[in-house]
Amino acid sequence: MTTLDQTTTVPASLLQGWDSIEFYVGNARATAGFLTAAFGFRVTAYAGPETGRNDTASYLLEQGDIRFVVTAGLTPSSPIWGHVREHGDGAQDLAFVVDDATATYESAISRGATSAREPYELTDDHGTLRLAAIGTYGETKHTFVDRSDYHGSYCPGFVTTGLPPEPRAEPVGLERIDHVVGNVETGKLDEWVAFYEDVMGFRQLRHFDEHQIATEYSALRSTVVTNDSGVTMPLNEPAKGLKRSQIQEYLDTYRGPGVQHIALGTSDIVQAIGALRSRGVRFLEANAEYFRDVRQRLAFLDLPWDALEQLGILVDHESDGHLLQLFTEPITDRPTVFIEIIQRGGATGFGEGNFKALFESIEREQDKRGNL
Ligand code: FE2
Repeated sequence: MTTLDQTTTVPASLLQGWDSIEFYVGNARATAGFLTAAFGFRVTAYAGPETGRNDTASYLLEQGDIRFVVTAGLTPSSPIWGHVREHGDGAQDLAFVVDDATATYESAISRGATSAREPYELTDDHGTLRLAAIGTYGETKHTFVDRSDYHGSYCPGFVTTGLPPEPRAEPVGLERIDHVVGNVETGKLDEWVAFYEDVMGFRQLRHFDEHQIATEYSALRSTVVTNDSGVTMPLNEPAKGLKRSQIQEYLDTYRGPGVQHIALGTSDIVQAIGALRSRGVRFLEANAEYFRDVRQRLAFLDLPWDALEQLGILVDHESDGHLLQLFTEPITDRPTVFIEIIQRGGATGFGEGNFKALFESIEREQDKRGNL
């Protein structure tokens, strides 16, 4: 990297936090129904043929501060279909709130980022939304969203009344996007970390090498970057093991790099997982040995151990505190993107103590798919 413009403000310092995550899917209505009925999201806005859009249908789903958008193409020529044909359903746009979309975009471009969409505006009766987008790993992009002159709830083109009826279930207490993890190509982890550090101005928070994250069969390398204002993104690459790494399975089935999982924070994980399980959400299951071991190892923590074990919730502890977490099975047909539910009790890590147990659980599922 020799062409960096060191005079501009780094993009990371202009990101105020997560705006939304957009999924491209084959059937937006069905995915919206799954996220409402199983996870307790509410559909709060909609755009489609009824609102003057002829080529896509989009549902905005909200719970706590979390905003997901699920979008499907309606015509064979829609670029959404091209994406779905190649990757299956996936998280395509990781969007951030900014003060000035053009300034953030220009800073990123001048420092070496690739344009995904030059600055543009969308206007309706509620004002003007200003946006711009850059590319990141695979076909994933980052949209910068400036809402300062827009007073509607989401985006021009969306309606918030007369929404199509959807299945409904009570929210389960999911509050915020905690972190979003990307899987990148073998051997490219350091390049993508350099993109987030040098181009975007993120800081490296942690790094785990293949010796720290390995089971008997497979291994991965992982580096976590953060902008220190709520945007934290671990990045993984496969490493050589006896068998096929779960990251390699992702890359093979997603057919390239992309978002591996989205971690959603809650302050009552026991309640959240209880509700999710009662609605049939499937999780990766640790074995009985895991709970025997963790209850001994972390016995000094004052936790509702019986409830945690009964619900299969994983526990990790580090010097700054503990965290509770659980991972769903992939939420798409291909074994690609999944959701993590996390409750932090002071710990700022990602459950490193659980990695081995977790990956062994993933490998049991991989083996069932014939992919190990
Ligand atoms: Fe995670």
